[in-house]
Amino acid sequence: MAKTYHIVPSTLALIRRSLQSSVGFLITIFVIGVIYFPRENGGLDDQKEEVLTATKCSTNQIYSSQSCDLFSGRWVFDNKSYPLYKEEECTFMNEFACQKFGRKDMNYQHWRWQPHQCNLPRFNATVLLEKLRNKRMVFVGDSLNRGQWVSMVCLIDKFVPPALKSMHFSLNNSLITFKAKEYNASIEFYWSPLLVESNSDDPVTHRLPDRIVRAHSIDKHARHWTDADILIFNTYLWWRRPFMNTLWGTFESADGIFKRVGMLRSYEMALKTWSDWLEIHIDRNKSQLFFMSMSPAHQWGKEWGKTIDGNCYNEQEMIEKDGYRGIGTDPRMMRIVEDAIADLERRGLQVKLMNITQLSEYRKDGHPSIYRKQWEVLNEEQLAKPTSYSDCIHWCLPGVPDVWNELLYAHIFT
Ligand SMILES: *[C@@H]1O[C@H](CO)[C@@H](O)[C@H](O)[C@H]1NC(C)=O
Ligand SMILES: *[C@@H]1O[C@H](CO)[C@@H](O)[C@H](O)[C@H]1NC(C)=O
Ligand SMILES: *[C@@H]1O[C@H](CO)[C@@H](O)[C@H](O)[C@H]1NC(C)=O
Ligand SMILES: *[C@@H]1O[C@H](CO)[C@@H](O)[C@H](O)[C@H]1NC(C)=O
Ligand SMILES: *[C@@H]1O[C@H](CO)[C@@H](O)[C@H](O)[C@H]1NC(C)=O
Ligand SMILES: *[C@@H]1O[C@H](CO)[C@@H](O)[C@H](O)[C@H]1NC(C)=O
Repeated sequence: MAKTYHIVPSTLALIRRSLQSSVGFLITIFVIGVIYFPRENGGLDDQKEEVLTATKCSTNQIYSSQSCDLFSGRWVFDNKSYPLYKEEECTFMNEFACQKFGRKDMNYQHWRWQPHQCNLPRFNATVLLEKLRNKRMVFVGDSLNRGQWVSMVCLIDKFVPPALKSMHFSLNNSLITFKAKEYNASIEFYWSPLLVESNSDDPVTHRLPDRIVRAHSIDKHARHWTDADILIFNTYLWWRRPFMNTLWGTFESADGIFKRVGMLRSYEMALKTWSDWLEIHIDRNKSQLFFMSMSPAHQWGKEWGKTIDGNCYNEQEMIEKDGYRGIGTDPRMMRIVEDAIADLERRGLQVKLMNITQLSEYRKDGHPSIYRKQWEVLNEEQLAKPTSYSDCIHWCLPGVPDVWNELLYAHIFT
């Protein structure tokens, strides 16, 4: 059964960290301590409309994604227009509110993405809400995608008065729904870190030593998002291991067949399952589909000239080298995604690949490192060595995922 909660600022920090694989930890959703009001009392807070803050910005923004590759560009320091929202203004901010968790340098919030050939259109929350009237926008994937979903909610939050929005958990917390009631617009996040079924599908307890994927089954998840109007997928980090235990059969049945399959092959199978589902079940006249490319990690400082045990900790500047690519991203996996999408296109279905990998590669300054919620008590040894518990995978908010959403916004409207 689903419940509707009216969430009070800063009580959405429901996310629990868990340690996973050498690549890093992944995130679980931990629904505790949610303070809520019944619907009628939603107006405890006055309903004051937030005044749209007029921001100075170049008015001659030329934009046409036909002729312009928005992913090819550079970062420009812009402390007039960025961040697009203030950290403390976002009701639904989560554990990646780096400033709240002690980060003092603020430049990471002030970067604008400038495509080489044109300008990004200005993100306008009202315009997006109007577009989403009576519609569902669903982010499907892992904690990186969840971060992007939080960013999207924050970008919109201050334009919706408190009584006219809600946060709602359902399907055992696999689905979180932000709703702007006036518009009957939903912006949702669905947890399925490998897209297809796996033994990591529980949003709370998925810290399992041995990952198992049912590369041929997606319906358990897909039935909950198939009818969405805008779908944003990702899956990458959870595959970063040489082999995947792949299951034919169900988790419940005793006669399932397990095979250790090379990761790339298993990834390919999973994306085939995903694309076959889309081909048959998606209403082409209704849904817009996006796939976020790999989000890079900055865990190996050696790559940009630091000592061997350095990482994103204390990094306050981005990488300047044009075209920089770290070992945290696997171009072979990018190619598999591209192939799956090209194949779908031949079958008459468009999925836009959101190529955010390169632009994020530069941003070694954008990760939380130690400035995030710590779910476990740190011991002395860790405290003595901050790099040992730095999160160089996720991103601070406001920050890089806001730019991903600006790019998404641009593509939604073309
Ligand atoms: C992604 O964008 C970068 C920067 O424009 C480009 O170099 C790279 O080839 C693109 N990759 C794909 C798969 O489109
Ligand atoms: C923006 O940055 C410049 C250069 O660092 C600084 O001089 C200026 O005071 C900053 N403006 C704001 C509004 O923070
Ligand atoms: C957003 O769009 C609305 C409707 O087109 C417009 O009235 C408003 O001025 C825009 N806001 C900003 C900040 O550009
Ligand atoms: C509200 O939005 C949902 C989609 O999220 C849609 O199915 C429903 O018909 C909408 N309600 C109204 C009254 O239009
Ligand atoms: C929720 O979790 C419980 C216990 O794990 C399980 O019995 C139930 O089937 C789950 N419900 C859904 C909708 O997944
Ligand atoms: C999609 O739109 C086209 C053209 O308007 C129409 O011919 C077709 O029947 C529609 N398909 C579905 C599944 O509604």
